[in-house]
Amino acid sequence: MHKKVIIIGAGGHGKVIADIVINAGDELLGFLDDDSEKTSLAGFPVLGSIADASRWPDAYFVVAIGEPAVRERIAESMPWAKWYTAIHSSAIVSNLETTIGEGSMIMAGTIVSPGVTIGRHCILNTGAIVEHNTVLEDYVHVSVAAKTGGEVFIGKSTWVGIGASVNNCISICPDCMLGAGAVVVKNITDPGVYCGVPARKLR
Ligand SMILES: CC(C)(COP(=O)(O)OP(=O)(O)OC[C@H]1O[C@@H](n2cnc3c(N)ncnc32)[C@H](O)[C@@H]1OP(=O)(O)O)[C@@H](O)C(=O)NCCC(=O)NCCS
Repeated sequence: MHKKVIIIGAGGHGKVIADIVINAGDELLGFLDDDSEKTSLAGFPVLGSIADASRWPDAYFVVAIGEPAVRERIAESMPWAKWYTAIHSSAIVSNLETTIGEGSMIMAGTIVSPGVTIGRHCILNTGAIVEHNTVLEDYVHVSVAAKTGGEVFIGKSTWVGIGASVNNCISICPDCMLGAGAVVVKNITDPGVYCGVPARKLR
């Protein structure tokens, strides 16, 4: 049965998720956004602000905002919500011991191997690769074309930047930002911003 869906965030991510919802045959009611100047996106209305969400008790919601901390704040403020899990039809997602938490978004061309655990409200962005037995905690964002080797652990709300790579068996603590193109070759135990090849702490 098709679902009625409302996307939180009428920006670029919101448009990408709208494409997934429409292609899945679900019904996109529109967007919620706290920027009152936004009235529509891709031909769908901005229905109101995020605080208005409870006016649609039958809808499924998805938080399409890239910044993990913002996504977390919004999702935690709506404990009553039914969450929509958005998976693009071109994503290759293993059914073998792989689990995907509610509210997560898996974009076009992404590959998820067997044994992967994806938390709630994660983003696996366009062309990302997540290899076998990797664990992504809640709110992790793996950006466009970023990749993890097998057996990687990425802590809650960490953001892996565009094209970054994480070597197999590496563990990264919560609340890190890995810069675009970073290559992580050692465990990261302190929250912070890490860049470069090999990745080192920027601050
Ligand atoms: C790492 C990052 C967060 C740093 O942003 P910032 O705090 O604004 O840092 P600045 O731009 O002030 O740069 C500080 C220094 O780090 C360097 N730097 C910034 N990003 C870098 C990167 N990805 N790799 C290597 N060096 C980097 C800058 O060249 C600068 O060096 P300098 O002091 O010698 O001039 C940002 O550059 C980045 O890579 N963001 C990822 C974007 C992304 O992937 N978005 C996902 C969209 S799906």
